[in-house]
Amino acid sequence: MSKKVALVTGSSRGIGRAIALELARHGSDLVINYRRNSSRALAEAVATEVRTLGNRALTVKADIADSEDIVSLFDQIQNEFSYLDILVNNAASAVFRPLLQLEEKHWEHVWDINLRALNECIRHAVPLMKGRKASIVNITSLGSIKYLPNYGALGAAKAAIESLTRSYAVELAPDINVNAVCGSLVDQTGVSEWIPDDEKEKWAQMAPAGRILRPEDMANVVAFLCSESAEMIRGQAIVVDGGLTLKI
Ligand SMILES: NC(=O)c1ccc[n+]([C@@H]2O[C@H](COP(=O)([O-])OP(=O)(O)OC[C@H]3O[C@@H](n4cnc5c(N)ncnc54)[C@H](OP(=O)(O)O)[C@@H]3O)[C@@H](O)[C@H]2O)c1
Repeated sequence: MSKKVALVTGSSRGIGRAIALELARHGSDLVINYRRNSSRALAEAVATEVRTLGNRALTVKADIADSEDIVSLFDQIQNEFSYLDILVNNAASAVFRPLLQLEEKHWEHVWDINLRALNECIRHAVPLMKGRKASIVNITSLGSIKYLPNYGALGAAKAAIESLTRSYAVELAPDINVNAVCGSLVDQTGVSEWIPDDEKEKWAQMAPAGRILRPEDMANVVAFLCSESAEMIRGQAIVVDGGLTLKI
C-alpha cells in the first residue's frame, strides 16, 4: 500500500501547521501550502520537520483565492505524487466588522476565499483521490453556530461550509469521507494575536476545560477524522471547544 499524501491549505503557520505535522506523525507525505513570499521560510521549516519525521514534503506557494494558482497547486501535486488521500481545507481570510459596515467588496472577499476557493479545492482533489479511501476535512469555527462580535460574514461562510460538508459527505461517499472540525478560539494563531490576554483568560475561564485551544487540539481531531477509525463518522462538524458552548 502506497503512503498517504495530504494537502493542508494554509499550513505555513497556526492551525494548518499543527495539522500538517500531526498528519506527518501519522506517516503521511505532505503538501505545505502558503500564500505570501514572506511565509516561504516558515513553510520550508514545516517541510523540514515533515522530512525529519520520515516523510516527503512539497511546499507550494499558491493563493487559493486565485483559480489559476489552484490549478497550478493541483498540477504540482499530480506531478510530484500522482494521487491525494487527504485534503484539509484550512486556509481562511476575512474582514472583521459589524455586518452593516461591510462593503460589497468585503463580502465578495469573505465568500470567495472561504467558500468558492474551498469548493474549487475539493473539485480538483476528487480526481486525484479516485480509487483510494480518502478524507476531506473542512476547518470551521463557532461562528457557524454562535454570535461572535464582528464575525457575521465569516460566521455565515463557516455555516455554509458545514452545509457543504454534509452534501459532499453524501455525494462523495463511500470512498471519500467528508467532515468538518469546528473550533473555538485557538492560541498561537493569526486571530489570537489580535485578542488581548485578559479576553483570552475570560474565554479560558468560561470553558469547562479551563483553557483556550492550542493548535494541536484541532490537529488531533483532524488526524482522527482522516483515519480508518473515523469511517462511520460522515458529514459532521465536530465541535472542539473545551466545552465552551455548553455554557453560552
Ligand atoms: N485562530 C482561531 O482562533 C480559529 C478558531 C477556529 C477556527 N479557525 C480556523 O482555522 C483555520 C486556520 O486559522 P489560523 O488562525 O490558524 O490562521 P493563521 O494563523 O492566520 O494562518 C493562516 C494560514 O493560511 C494561509 N492563507 C491565508 N490566506 C490564504 C490564501 N488566500 N491562500 C493560501 N493560503 C492562505 C496563511 O499563509 P501565509 O502565511 O502565506 O499568510 C497561513 O498559512 C481557518 O479556517 C480559521 O477560520 C481559527
